[in-house]
Amino acid sequence: MSDAAAAQESLEGFLADEITRMYEEVAEHPEGEFHFYHGRAGAELFEYDAEDLDRAPAGAVASFAGVGNPHLRADIQPGETVLDLGSGAGLDAIIAAMRAGPSGTVIGVDLNPTMCRRAKVHAAESGANIECHEGRMEDIPVPDESVDIVISNGVINLSFRKRKVMEEMYRVLRPGGRMSVTDIVSGKQLSQAIVNDPKLWAS
Ligand SMILES: C[S@@+](CC[C@H](N)C(=O)[O-])C[C@H]1O[C@@H](n2cnc3c(N)ncnc32)[C@H](O)[C@@H]1O
Repeated sequence: MSDAAAAQESLEGFLADEITRMYEEVAEHPEGEFHFYHGRAGAELFEYDAEDLDRAPAGAVASFAGVGNPHLRADIQPGETVLDLGSGAGLDAIIAAMRAGPSGTVIGVDLNPTMCRRAKVHAAESGANIECHEGRMEDIPVPDESVDIVISNGVINLSFRKRKVMEEMYRVLRPGGRMSVTDIVSGKQLSQAIVNDPKLWAS
C-alpha cells in the first residue's frame, strides 16, 4: 500500500470512530446540545409531515439527525424497494416503509451496528419491516440493480470518497431508478483547519 493510501485509510478509520461517537451520542442523549439540528424540532424545520412524526416511534424522532427532507421529492410508491444510506436511528427508513407499504421493502445501511440495531427496534415498534445492513456507503452491501430508489439524509458529506459513493448508488439502482438525497455542500473552499477537524467532518 502506498503512503498516501495508508494515510487515507488511517484518516477514514479515525473519522469512522468520530462519526460512531457523534451519532450514538445523539441517539442516547437527544436532549443534549449539538451544533446541528436534530430531533423533532429539526424534522419540523425540514417540513416533515406532522402525521408521519406522530406515527413514528418517539425514539426515532428524538434521534433524527438529518439535514433536510428526502421525502419531499422521493415519491415512494407501494411495493417499491427503498435503500436508505446511513439510516441512523431509522426515522427516514420508517417513513419510507409507511410509503412503500407491506408489499414494499426498505433496506437501511449504516456503518455503525449499534445504529442498525436501534433502527430495527424502532421499526419493530412502528410495525414496519425494515432490514438494516451494517456496511459502508462506499461499498454498499446490496446486489446490483436491486433497488427502485435510494434515499439519504446528511450522510454523503461524511465520506472521503464521494465519487465511489455515487458509483455505488448507480450500481444498486435498477434501470430507471431514482435518488432523493438531502445533504450539505459548501460553495466556497473550506479552510484547512476545518477540513482537518474530525469533529466538523463528522457532524
Ligand atoms: C446524519 S445521520 C442519518 C440520519 C438518518 N437518516 C435519520 O433518519 O435520522 C448519519 C448516519 O450515517 C452513518 N454513516 C456515516 N458514515 C457512513 C458510511 N460511510 N457508510 C454508512 N453509514 C454511514 C452514521 O453512522 C449515522 O448513523
